[in-house]
Amino acid sequence: MDDPLTQAFPACLLPDNLTLIPGLREVYELHLAWLEAQTLSGAALVEQAAYFCSVDGRPTRHFLTCVGETLKLPDFSSAGLRSFFKTNSFRTGYATHGLFPYRGKFHPQMVRGILNVIGVGPGKTVLDPMMGSGTVPIEAALLGADAVGVDISPFCTFMTETKASGLTMSLERAEGALASAETTFDYFVRRHGVALPTAGQQLAQDDDLRRVMEEGADYVVSGRRFRDRETAETYALLLLAFLDTMGYTQRSQRKPPLEQFQGILERYLHCCRKFQQVRGAQGFDLGRIDARQGDARQLGLADESVDAILFSPPYSFAIDYAENDAFHLAALGADRADLDKSMIGLRGGSRLADKYDCYLEDMNGALRECHRVLKQGCHCVIVVGTNNNQLSKVLKLPADQVIGLHKILRDAAESLGFSFSAEIPRAIKGIANTMREEYIVFLKKE
Ligand SMILES: C[S@@+](CC[C@H](N)C(=O)[O-])C[C@H]1O[C@@H](n2cnc3c(N)ncnc32)[C@H](O)[C@@H]1O
Repeated sequence: MDDPLTQAFPACLLPDNLTLIPGLREVYELHLAWLEAQTLSGAALVEQAAYFCSVDGRPTRHFLTCVGETLKLPDFSSAGLRSFFKTNSFRTGYATHGLFPYRGKFHPQMVRGILNVIGVGPGKTVLDPMMGSGTVPIEAALLGADAVGVDISPFCTFMTETKASGLTMSLERAEGALASAETTFDYFVRRHGVALPTAGQQLAQDDDLRRVMEEGADYVVSGRRFRDRETAETYALLLLAFLDTMGYTQRSQRKPPLEQFQGILERYLHCCRKFQQVRGAQGFDLGRIDARQGDARQLGLADESVDAILFSPPYSFAIDYAENDAFHLAALGADRADLDKSMIGLRGGSRLADKYDCYLEDMNGALRECHRVLKQGCHCVIVVGTNNNQLSKVLKLPADQVIGLHKILRDAAESLGFSFSAEIPRAIKGIANTMREEYIVFLKKE
């Protein structure tokens, strides 16, 4: 027998015609890679796999989508940021996933791996009932599957639609807007800028961009009407870059906002262009994305109408998404009071214990809806972090004795008729995160 010490570890687990994506070093990634190798074969592995860079020497589609300069960072970006994106180039920064730094968003590569393991591909429809920045719908579309994404926040619907159109839209006009970045930025500052809240009315007379962006009636973006799809998609991409800029500006004063805007828009255009070129060269079909503003507790979808569900709920009351996105929501004309009443994790007033009760009630409602709309024999996957520090205050228990949220949600799902299939733990890194671990919980509707 060969000396085990002389064999590469992953090669012991996987067939030798498969080569892992560079930089995989976490156990959950190896686990998902192994599951992909059990689930997919031949052409499907080449076209869909998340964790392999080649199959029988043929580069995979995911590998080709990710190689090269993934994110074009502005010259003033820190060495830390550059190194983060370099190390994570196969995990997060490809296609249009990097367009907005939404808090608590999924790792796209992990989403791809999970979707493969639960049989999502062309001809299937996947649902994310709390889509946030749209990672699941975008990744499903890259796999050729159709997706329905729902979120209570109009900003999330806007973000997802914009990322989806970035995969195919014409970039010419947005490139023109980048060439005159000062005028473009000025336009949005006057329309949405916090310092000039009433300046919107004066835009009409003097702004060239208005002529390009505001005529017509058929295509609606953030409550405004546009004459054609190209105009609407261009406006949406520029607006998202502007909102991204304002987010940075609130957090750091290191660079003047205009400079930030230029860097961000350049990066957006680079991501879209790069993906469109790769897709042009490989010629693959994208699935359809239906992004809706709606409530996970009342989905408005037909019974047994989706083939798979994948989502990550708010981690009880760990992040106040309405507060976090306040500027962006206001810019889109959202009603904050309405959101406070319907966002899971926000209901329940100021007492943590009341909030927690509302959270459980709301998550029960959301899981019941998932069970109703999912077809028999299909999977519902929840990715949820352990929020033990906060829960220990509510339950008045030491943090290490708190039952993790993943277990609480799993029990709730089982009592609604789901059966439990598997659980994969995954470490959460970064000093700023209050959670240390999250779980990928696989449930099935038998
Ligand atoms: C953890 S985030 C999801 C992040 C997402 N997986 C991503 O990749 O960006 C949870 C999301 O749940 C949404 N949410 C909260 N209450 C909701 C409700 N009642 N119905 C639908 N979505 C809701 C929040 O707006 C937030 O975007």
